[in-house]
Amino acid sequence: MAKIVNFKKEISSENLIECVKCIRNSGIVIFPTETVYGIGANALDSCAVEKIFKAKGRKSDNPLIVLVSDEKMLEKIVQSINGIEKQLIEKFWPGPLTIIFDKKDIIPEVVSAKKSTIGVRIPGNEIARKLIHESGVPITAPSANLSGKLCVINAQDAKEDFDDKVDYIIDGGETEFGIESTIVRVENDVVNILRCGQVLPEEIERLGLQVSLNATPQMIPGKKNKHYQIEKEVWLITGTPEEKEEKVEQFIKKHTNMKIGILGSDELYNEIVKKQIEVDYITYGKRTDTDKIAKFLFQLLKKVTESEVNLFLIEGIEENKIGNVIMKKWKEICNGKYIE
Ligand code: TXA
Ligand code: MG
Repeated sequence: MAKIVNFKKEISSENLIECVKCIRNSGIVIFPTETVYGIGANALDSCAVEKIFKAKGRKSDNPLIVLVSDEKMLEKIVQSINGIEKQLIEKFWPGPLTIIFDKKDIIPEVVSAKKSTIGVRIPGNEIARKLIHESGVPITAPSANLSGKLCVINAQDAKEDFDDKVDYIIDGGETEFGIESTIVRVENDVVNILRCGQVLPEEIERLGLQVSLNATPQMIPGKKNKHYQIEKEVWLITGTPEEKEEKVEQFIKKHTNMKIGILGSDELYNEIVKKQIEVDYITYGKRTDTDKIAKFLFQLLKKVTESEVNLFLIEGIEENKIGNVIMKKWKEICNGKYIE
């Protein structure tokens, strides 16, 4: 069983020492980052890293990202840092922007899945930074979920899948954001976005940088493996608020013999109640409160997964800013099932 270390109130050095020792002795520690919980091992230790692939059930051709506590540590593991990368670091670190660099040999091949590159960031979470700093080594940080399952934003949910697979779980409360980091690769002065995440393309553009969302498939090794499958039939509903209400009503009328669930807004909920339509409703709050929807995105989807209902409708939101990233995740989950 994993030992839970509670850091919710204060980050005590005494407790941290146990986790630091664990990392130095090739152990595995689950810890909070600013985005979602991560599963960490000494990134310079192949044996420790192999345990992570095993614990997650992750394919060996899918590289891990690593976290460092400062730029000195970054310089030890990457070949060089160009001007644009320096600009990104200055603006977004510590924080949810993972940058792909050419790696040095010190990073074992198992971490990078035999690629010559490595994704790195300084996390915007104090516990994570302290753990790395005190351990004195870069720490791997794939999301703390079984391969293909939903990310988690608290220690209890991580425990459900990893209790017997890791040595320590650091409980640092809920993570700040709830959506994974944005991953970028700078090539020919263009910032290519390999994974949309918490840092938005427009925030990068505001630095006067050219941003591309058309990364080549070779740039995105993780795309081969399907992300977040949930064992339900899930349909995404888009359109204006009125159109969405109409579509939900029509859908339910057509499927009177089936129990239907909805993951949607408070506003849609009110309409459904008025019309006395019976559904299993999970609300994500106000349509416009997109930061909150982002933060609880994975928890809400966990509720959908755990519901007895097998057919769910997700009420889409406006595709701008973080809403764009949320919609991308929902589209992935709905796997092409839209009611447009
Ligand atoms: O917010 C995050 O980044 C979280 C927290 C825990 O750090 N971690 C995370 O890791 O999302 P993971 O393994 O679930 O997703 C990392 C993605 C994978 O799709 C992987 O294929 C891609 O990053 N990746 C890792 N190294 C890469 C590289 N060298 N080139 C391109 N993509 C890479
Ligand atoms: Mg993941």
